[in-house]
Amino acid sequence: MGKKTVKDIDVKNKKVLVRCDFNVPYDENRVITDNRRIVAALPTIKYLIENNCKVILCSHLGRPKGEVKPEFSLDIVAKELSKLLGQEVKLASDVVGESAHKLTSEMKEGEVVLLENVRFEAGEEKNDPELSKKLAEMAEVYVNDAFGTAHRAHSSTTGVADYLPAVSGFLIEKELEFLGNAIQNAQKPFVAIIGGKKVSDKIGPIENLLTKVDTVLIGGAMAYTFLKAMGYNVGDSFCEEDKLDLANEIMEKAKNNGVKLLLPVDTKIGKEFDPNTESKIVKCTEIPDGWEGFDIGDETIKLYSEELRKAKTIIWMGPLGLFEFDQFAIGTNSIAKVLADVDAVKVVGGGDSAAAIEKIGLSNKFTHISTGGSASLEFIEGKKLPGIEALQDK
Ligand code: 3PG
Repeated sequence: MGKKTVKDIDVKNKKVLVRCDFNVPYDENRVITDNRRIVAALPTIKYLIENNCKVILCSHLGRPKGEVKPEFSLDIVAKELSKLLGQEVKLASDVVGESAHKLTSEMKEGEVVLLENVRFEAGEEKNDPELSKKLAEMAEVYVNDAFGTAHRAHSSTTGVADYLPAVSGFLIEKELEFLGNAIQNAQKPFVAIIGGKKVSDKIGPIENLLTKVDTVLIGGAMAYTFLKAMGYNVGDSFCEEDKLDLANEIMEKAKNNGVKLLLPVDTKIGKEFDPNTESKIVKCTEIPDGWEGFDIGDETIKLYSEELRKAKTIIWMGPLGLFEFDQFAIGTNSIAKVLADVDAVKVVGGGDSAAAIEKIGLSNKFTHISTGGSASLEFIEGKKLPGIEALQDK
């Protein structure tokens, strides 16, 4: 059963509390380096403004752990949001205190107030009913659009739903549609690209996907754990020694389920963890000691591209190499470029692959890029997310 959205209830002229995930990265000068999560919240905020709502936004930023720490202030988000909306977003200097009450009680229809970092309140991560009640008292309706935080059972993501009519925003609706529907009812052939550093981080989603996909393409540092599990020398490559059995179990499960699981056949290795380190491409069966694998090689790119060109549904989780260093970004970038031209439903889950695609400017070539990191992985794993469960059913 689907969840109700802002369109399924009457929000006109109401005071609406919207939980967003404005947990965006920023640099040492407190300049936001990636505003995608703020942009992704705009459709819901604009809809509420158009419906003459008094829009009260709340979010966390980082992990201040229940203390007021100015370096985690949402002031940078208020500024960015004001720019994107083309109207002032007032920032309360607290979450449920004097400032929040003053601003939210004085606001007019169509205005937007952002509460200060909800994790400045010790009750937030404890899902404290007192805090939930105080948040709820400020509004008449609760909208959750914080997909990236939907795996957390906190006051502002679940607790508040006990005290107000609770529905989803358009971002959560979209995430559920693409991460849920696209996977449950995938058109075949269905191919999963799974990269990133650790097998252990992706084990849940991999196990679930092995019951659904036709092909799995493995890349990123986790590939070396698989290669080692098969008995190959991986030199000084990152390897989860305690996950070799797990890697073997995954390969066995793929075989039993009739899933084609491909590992890299060649790899770009480097001498050191340095952007300018000496590098070369070798077969995965011939990685010398003293060298570390940082990317897939040309043969692997070719092999994986052939599989992807046949696909009708593709899910991509995790970069295929150390894309932060240009000379080891070739695998990830090449696969992203191939995907850009493939006519298929293309969904990206997990924060790092999204960042890689954004970096080369191909985001608009994908059907959906999730704003959730861990939340998207847990959802793909098939887990129920508390922030979604708390919302009203359709
Ligand atoms: C994220 O970036 O994954 C979400 O905003 C959740 O943040 P958290 O891991 O600090 O709860």
